[in-house]
Amino acid sequence: MLKVWITGAEGHVGSALCELLDSTEYQILTTDINEVDITDSEKVNHYINFNRPDVVINCAGLTNLDECEKDVDMAYKVNAIGVRNVAMAAESVRAKLIQLSTDDVFDAKSEKPYNEFDKTHPRTVYGKSKEAGEKFVTQLCKKFVILRSSWIYGIGRDFVDEVLRKIGVEKSINVPNNRYGVPTSAKELAKVVKYFIDNDEYGLYHAVCKGSCSRYEFAKAILEYTGNSGKLEVHPVLSSDTSRPEYCVLDNMMLRLSGIEEPAEWRGALKEYLEETGGLE
Ligand SMILES: NC(=O)c1ccc[n+]([C@@H]2O[C@H](COP(=O)([O-])OP(=O)(O)OC[C@H]3O[C@@H](n4cnc5c(N)ncnc54)[C@H](OP(=O)(O)O)[C@@H]3O)[C@@H](O)[C@H]2O)c1
Repeated sequence: MLKVWITGAEGHVGSALCELLDSTEYQILTTDINEVDITDSEKVNHYINFNRPDVVINCAGLTNLDECEKDVDMAYKVNAIGVRNVAMAAESVRAKLIQLSTDDVFDAKSEKPYNEFDKTHPRTVYGKSKEAGEKFVTQLCKKFVILRSSWIYGIGRDFVDEVLRKIGVEKSINVPNNRYGVPTSAKELAKVVKYFIDNDEYGLYHAVCKGSCSRYEFAKAILEYTGNSGKLEVHPVLSSDTSRPEYCVLDNMMLRLSGIEEPAEWRGALKEYLEETGGLE
């Protein structure tokens, strides 16, 4: 039975993985910041030497973009140094490391989807720190998978909650219609992670739901699929901090070329998530 350690297990992706992985099939070890803070290399080493997992899935991260801008040191401490600690520890017990990363490693200035061979150029502190984390993984681990995803929603606070919480509180909301990306359900992403737990394939992969949309279209779909379209108006606006459309759509080129099943189309995945959970945390 494979022993799998999930860090940041209480977040969106960690929770979806805990739900997806069958405990009769895997021995699952879960920790979050209170059990193992990944910035504490001694703790990380102690945990890994004691438990000796076959696979480590690093879902821990500082994911709040504003927090990263405000506290640059902390962003790098968690998203770069923390990843370095986990990568070194995984390598020391010859475990496979599956590291989660982001579309924010790109600058969103393209007019077509980014594939894994496109040059990264992060603009945000979050994106820069995540890129630094990716580099540590490639430098320190022999057996690694880096999965870049985007606009993840699931258990926890995210854009889906943000929209649904406005119902009954506000009459209308303004949502940018010039920011494009791919909403990806944590459940769909967890299925891709599972594939890499089970198979001897390695490298860098993009893993997002199929299709793309603007934030405005995403908000409209959330309301439509929960039957709340009449209860909250959504106004399309131009995002104030950008003079041109931001297009940060990932192409799952490596999954496609490797014959690995891609996550479902974003609308279907969103509908399924909302039907299963109601969408609120
Ligand atoms: N959310 C997205 O849209 C998105 C998109 C692309 C890629 N990703 C990447 O996917 C991964 C998982 O994202 P997610 O949405 O599941 O994030 P999330 O919901 O914010 O979960 C991250 C978890 O890591 C924990 N954590 C924070 N600092 C830690 C530390 N020093 N040591 C151990 N645990 C720590 C967090 O605890 P607290 O809540 O207490 O801080 C949280 O439980 C991250 O690497 C993220 O960069 C996310």
